[in-house]
Amino acid sequence: MIGEDHMKDIPANTVLIIGASQGLGLQWVKYYKGCNHIVIATTKNIDAAIELKGLLTGSDDKILKLDVTNTDSVISAMNHIQNAPDIIIYNAGVKGYTKCPDFKATLLNAQLVNNGISSRDEGREVAFQVNAYGFDRVISVLKDKILMKPKVAVAYISTGVANISQNISGGYPHYRQSKAAGDAYVRGWDIDLCQETMLDSRPRIFSIIPGLINTGMGTDIEGAADPIKRVADMAAVIEHVKITGDTHGIWKYDGTKHVQYELPVIIRG
Ligand SMILES: NC(=O)c1ccc[n+]([C@@H]2O[C@H](COP(=O)([O-])OP(=O)(O)OC[C@H]3O[C@@H](n4cnc5c(N)ncnc54)[C@H](OP(=O)(O)O)[C@@H]3O)[C@@H](O)[C@H]2O)c1
Repeated sequence: MIGEDHMKDIPANTVLIIGASQGLGLQWVKYYKGCNHIVIATTKNIDAAIELKGLLTGSDDKILKLDVTNTDSVISAMNHIQNAPDIIIYNAGVKGYTKCPDFKATLLNAQLVNNGISSRDEGREVAFQVNAYGFDRVISVLKDKILMKPKVAVAYISTGVANISQNISGGYPHYRQSKAAGDAYVRGWDIDLCQETMLDSRPRIFSIIPGLINTGMGTDIEGAADPIKRVADMAAVIEHVKITGDTHGIWKYDGTKHVQYELPVIIRG
């Protein structure tokens, strides 16, 4: 278990939070503002992000318009970031299917209802665009800046249902599959950037699982946790990985690993 009081002693960092207008994203902003860090937050719709704008009161805080499904939008938003943030949190995520009280959503019946139109293709497309390809877009645009700064931590907010070996009851159509693809991009970027920089200062790119939380996707589900404590717990894990460089697994909010990876050859030596 990783300590919770660690943030008191940490100097101010710049934190980029992608997908920050609501739910867990907004809680990340509140947490890091509470630690007196500089926060750069993104949202698809700045006008609608009233609560988020109210939190970004520091002279260096920024709010950026970003739709991760669009490469031009990613380039344009990232152009406003001069130096890599110390911590990047890829919080953006979508379900890609519409829950129905009458049946369990599975790959057999997956559909996304949007503006009254029901489409399986649209659900699959948006899930992969946001949960997987968007992460790849952001890192490929920011990679040179990330490599210029030692030990940048990049946390991808994953989910326990992305673990293929633990799919024993089905469901979560396209969400499960796209988050597994997201985890695969995370590991790929972590290993591939190893070759480009000094090993001890290499970026720390890793996935973390928040567990069920009472925000957007987990709203009012029985047993969903309070986001305040969960974000504080995950921030402690991020700091631990930033210090140790242990990106070799999928971390859980409680400081344990959900999945353990082999050490890459370049690190094993
Ligand atoms: N809640 C849970 O129980 C739970 C469990 C496991 C994992 N997670 C993961 O935690 C993250 C946050 O979940 P949440 O419950 O807070 O869900 P949420 O309230 O639905 O928030 C999702 C966020 O994704 C962002 N987003 C969606 N489409 C985007 C796009 N095209 N471009 C950029 N950003 C986009 C939104 O950002 P803007 O509206 O600001 O643009 C929004 O802030 C997700 O990645 C989710 O998979 C949640």
